[in-house]
Amino acid sequence: MPDFKSKYGSYALITGAASGIGRAFAEDLAVRGIAPIIVDINSEDAKRVAEELKEKYQVDARVLALDLSKPEFMQAIEKFIQGLDIGLVIHCAAVSLVDEYLNLPLEKHRALVGVNVSASMELAYYFGSQFKARKRGGIILVSSASAMQGSALVQHYAASKAYILTLAEGLWYELRSHGVDVLGLMPGSTETPAIHVGDPDLSGAYVMPAADVAREALNALGKQPSLISGARNRRDFFLLTRLLSRKQAVEIVGDRLMKMYRRT
Ligand SMILES: NC(=O)c1ccc[n+]([C@@H]2O[C@H](COP(=O)([O-])OP(=O)(O)OC[C@H]3O[C@@H](n4cnc5c(N)ncnc54)[C@H](OP(=O)(O)O)[C@@H]3O)[C@@H](O)[C@H]2O)c1
Repeated sequence: MPDFKSKYGSYALITGAASGIGRAFAEDLAVRGIAPIIVDINSEDAKRVAEELKEKYQVDARVLALDLSKPEFMQAIEKFIQGLDIGLVIHCAAVSLVDEYLNLPLEKHRALVGVNVSASMELAYYFGSQFKARKRGGIILVSSASAMQGSALVQHYAASKAYILTLAEGLWYELRSHGVDVLGLMPGSTETPAIHVGDPDLSGAYVMPAADVAREALNALGKQPSLISGARNRRDFFLLTRLLSRKQAVEIVGDRLMKMYRRT
């Protein structure tokens, strides 16, 4: 797939690539000949993923271990990427909190804002400016299907994902005339370690493989402002968000989550 590489460059920076969907992005890009820069708080897993990808695809996978909830993280990224031809950035890392809003300490909510909201803003601003200046590049901000309505038990996570989605869609419009592709990605339930946080009952749930989520997103980049992963999720969320009232949608999702996390 030489076109993808010539469009987006030799390296892609992917946050959260030590695990789950971020790791799947790193592998899909390695297949396309693009070397992943794995940015993750989890340095051991990140190193292991980089070694695997180097060996399997002969790409120059690199690791930058850092905490995206710390305000100074962007300086570490800028230093690390000096001299590298980066044309694609995927912000996949996220903090996911599952509980009633007031049951969690404010510190956890602040960390969620740091990784999900502030890091999206910083990465989009820095790389958006770079890519606009060189008239080439791509940015994927990973949101969630939960962005589309208020969601009990994941209320703050869903709110942060709504921020990400709206930012990505606005940037898609502004940057497309400058040769920069932006996509807001909304995965539904996806088989990763994170989906098991809070021990949900997933029986009967439609859970996609992470590799399918990553592949669909890379194929949609440059074609549309946002994407719900999977045809079945696209159908379900069309019904939920376009045919029902906001009140009905919030109630249905709230009831489903309360049952899934055994709170009823
Ligand atoms: N899986 C799903 O069902 C699903 C559904 C909708 C949307 N999404 C979105 O998809 C993205 C990837 O989710 P996933 O399920 O693949 O999660 P995952 O398997 O937990 O991977 C996320 C990675 O990000 C890292 N990370 C967390 N906080 C960080 C921080 N402060 N600084 C740097 N790295 C950090 C995690 O490290 P630790 O493991 O050490 O925390 C982990 O390696 C997220 O944006 C998520 O909201 C997932």
